[in-house]
Amino acid sequence: MAILITGGAGYIGSVTTELLRARGERVVVLDNLSRGHRDAVAPEVPFYQGDAGNRELIEHVVHEHDVKACIHFAAFAYVGESVSSPALYYENNVEQGIRLLGALVQANVRHIVFSSTCATYGEPQRIPIDEQHPQQPTNPYGWSKLFIERIMSDYDCGYGLKFVALRYFNAAGATPERGERHDPETHLIPLVLKAAHGEIDRVAVFGNDYPTKDGTCVRDYIHVTDLAQAHALSLDYLRAGNSSTAINLGNGQGYSVLEVVNAAREVTGREIAIEMQQRRAGDPSHLVADAAKAGAVLGWKPQHPELADIISSAWKWHTKRSSAQA
Ligand SMILES: NC(=O)c1ccc[n+]([C@@H]2O[C@H](COP(=O)([O-])OP(=O)(O)OC[C@H]3O[C@@H](n4cnc5c(N)ncnc54)[C@H](O)[C@@H]3O)[C@@H](O)[C@H]2O)c1
Repeated sequence: MAILITGGAGYIGSVTTELLRARGERVVVLDNLSRGHRDAVAPEVPFYQGDAGNRELIEHVVHEHDVKACIHFAAFAYVGESVSSPALYYENNVEQGIRLLGALVQANVRHIVFSSTCATYGEPQRIPIDEQHPQQPTNPYGWSKLFIERIMSDYDCGYGLKFVALRYFNAAGATPERGERHDPETHLIPLVLKAAHGEIDRVAVFGNDYPTKDGTCVRDYIHVTDLAQAHALSLDYLRAGNSSTAINLGNGQGYSVLEVVNAAREVTGREIAIEMQQRRAGDPSHLVADAAKAGAVLGWKPQHPELADIISSAWKWHTKRSSAQA
């Protein structure tokens, strides 16, 4: 009995694969390596290079490994790219997602944990954001995730598919072995650490006139191992026969861009230059989760809620990787 992990060669998928294996679960990874890294998956893990929407391949993998559940990470996840190239997002995230769900239902796999996002909420009407907050995405990336949530609800009614849609806020941090490696990198913490390491000159800060404590945007950062743990608990939840649901994953605490930069200066002991730029269109001032439901429903509690711990884990991984490459 195995768990199929799509997108398992990516950042969050590879850390979740690592955690599930440590828990004694059998896992199979499927990733087309469009944005992931083969070496992020341990060589002992069965690995298939292919598309999440390749129905024949999915059916083959399910039968070969007796797959009983799927964690679906595979997607493109750049908000800006989704605005300039929406077809890429609807084809990769929605079209392929539909084909994956169809193949899973066909093969009688009825438990899905899905990587959704706080981007499905759009401009916040209240902070913190709970799961009842209206979902009105402001970009194709957010819509692509919301469409899959919607389709899974209908497949629940029609085919008995049971799912947990995990709406992540900002994943960050690393394990000693695995961390964030996006190209291009757009996430704040890895960019700040690249600046600390001298790989980039400075970090752009988009807007310092927001209605926040220091004028810069406030975001909710969650340690990637806490995220991974929530996936394991979601599988337990589904295996116990519970109904489909959507759950926020965040710390419930917001940090401004300048707070992140200052915390990184402290953790690394390095100077980190910043450059103030204009606001970016569509960036809300605050995005902070109400994650009470994850505690109540899954029994989940973040083990590494402190920003300094999150940054420190990412810094250790970053410096180890850079010295290994040197
Ligand atoms: N990183 C975050 O802060 C964050 C926040 C909210 C939601 N998410 C969601 O979590 C998931 C994982 O994010 P991540 O940061 O690890 O991204 P990532 O890009 O590191 O990982 C995604 C992986 O999926 C693979 N992939 C993409 N499309 C595929 C396809 N059609 N078939 C097979 N493989 C495919 C890529 O090669 C990559 O390895 C994504 O679905 C993303 O939308 C991430």
